[in-house]
Amino acid sequence: MKPAAFDYVRVTSIDEAIALLAKHGDEATVLAGGVSLGAMLNMRLVRPGILIDIKGIEALSAVHDAGTQLTIGVIVRQADLMVSAPAMAAVPLLAKAFPHIGHMQTRSRGTLGGSIAHADPSAELPLCLVTLDGAIELQSRAGIRTVKAREFFTGVLSTVRRPDELLTAIHWPTRSLRSGFGFDEIAQRHGDFAIVAAACHVKLTESGLINQLDVGLGGVEDRPLAFILHEFIGAKPDAALARALADHVMGLVAPTGDVKASAAYRKALVRLLVERVFQQAAASVEHAAREGVVVIPKALHDTASKAAGEVIGGHTKAAISVDLNGRTVRGSAEPRMLLSDFLRHELGCYGVRVGCEHGVCGACTVLVDGVAQRSCLQRAIEADGTSITTVEGLSPGNTMNALQEAFRRHHALQCGFCTPGILASATHFLRDNSQPTEDAVRDMLSGHICRCTGYHGIVQAILDAARPVSQ
Ligand SMILES: Cc1cc2nc3c(=O)[nH]c(=O)nc-3n(C[C@H](O)[C@H](O)[C@H](O)COP(=O)(O)OP(=O)(O)OC[C@H]3O[C@@H](n4cnc5c(N)ncnc54)[C@H](O)[C@@H]3O)c2cc1C
Ligand code: FES
Ligand code: FES
Repeated sequence: MKPAAFDYVRVTSIDEAIALLAKHGDEATVLAGGVSLGAMLNMRLVRPGILIDIKGIEALSAVHDAGTQLTIGVIVRQADLMVSAPAMAAVPLLAKAFPHIGHMQTRSRGTLGGSIAHADPSAELPLCLVTLDGAIELQSRAGIRTVKAREFFTGVLSTVRRPDELLTAIHWPTRSLRSGFGFDEIAQRHGDFAIVAAACHVKLTESGLINQLDVGLGGVEDRPLAFILHEFIGAKPDAALARALADHVMGLVAPTGDVKASAAYRKALVRLLVERVFQQAAASVEHAAREGVVVIPKALHDTASKAAGEVIGGHTKAAISVDLNGRTVRGSAEPRMLLSDFLRHELGCYGVRVGCEHGVCGACTVLVDGVAQRSCLQRAIEADGTSITTVEGLSPGNTMNALQEAFRRHHALQCGFCTPGILASATHFLRDNSQPTEDAVRDMLSGHICRCTGYHGIVQAILDAARPVSQ
């Protein structure tokens, strides 16, 4: 399915965004990475009158380290935060949770604030935020307010955010002395939303007894849950305590059953995961204070160049210019046109494949400014001014590059439907991982579905392409 028509406006300041939210109220929807919103638009689960694209607001990518609290702007991309070693050292629970959040190809576009605002009860970032007792900053014409994460989420995809409010920053409490963290989840497939996810924060006294204990759960009820477990203060953090804690927390929850898992199965997972994350947290307690200040060096805001502040009507064909495979090309598209359709139907790049149109199969993956992203989850208008590489541009003329040759040698394709998307992801992946492990390749491939090959040949081809010629 394709989205219904909507107006589109790209803004570059918070003031512009909140003025538009005040003007359009319920009719307006904020667009960040579009990784969740894109799928909902495509399936017509939402039909906004106007999309306000906030990726051009540089102020929303600011990061401020105040020692006990790290404040991160909402449009910081998940992939950029995940590779910031100082940020991960400041909030170690995030470092443990990030590998479970979707796939490389969704984290490369999904933002921090988008995940919090979306409020999926199984999502990892909201779970980490409630476990750590963090907070969310919201801004509207009425001013700025800060809401505790534990009061922010009100139900499935529901929060206390008013329609005229913009999330601007997320406050993450940083690691304190003698604290440890644990995170784990069970999902059907790596990168899927969790059936149950659990997080734990433990703080010990100087003599090694529990001083503070917080456990968070995702996927269990209609919102992420946090328990402050005063009854375990003063206890020794050993295996017996882990079991007692797991039994205790299991008794506090009332899971819901759905197509993925029954309520009873979820309850059993709560016991298993709470025991596990507590042991992880107790074993990871750090006895030295955190050093240094977090600075995320990269410019994290959007590079697209569509004129800011101009509302483009739902049926207006806007001019779009992209650097496609090394050549500047121009076309036009209504705001609702997907980048995948624009590349195929306007620009003739039939190597871009369209499968599911909700971000799961990976067939439509292309390189946007060198980064593997789903072209079915973004609109062509968002890509104006960017540089796009499709399978047609991976090697000159009719030649094949080393990766494509390796795919041929290892019989890494049969029908070839999934191959252009996988090549795009593998190109990005090999640039950042020159000597990857097989596990890392499989992790990257979890963002793609191939119905023919069984993956073995694909994994071998990517490993082979990464190997120096002399080996
Ligand atoms: C295949 C696949 C697997 C995934 N797996 C996981 C997973 O395992 N775990 C997980 O947590 N997520 C997962 N996701 C979702 C992904 O993490 C999204 O990136 C994230 O949920 C939304 O971020 P976004 O920036 O794309 O937000 P968008 O999609 O742009 O927005 C999401 C919602 O938040 C609102 N919004 C965004 N920013 C603001 C703001 N500043 N102020 C007010 N409202 C705002 C939007 O209006 C929209 O309603 C998956 C997605 C896909 C496609
Ligand atoms: S992920 Fe885009 S078509 Fe399936
Ligand atoms: S080769 Fe046919 S879907 Fe992958």
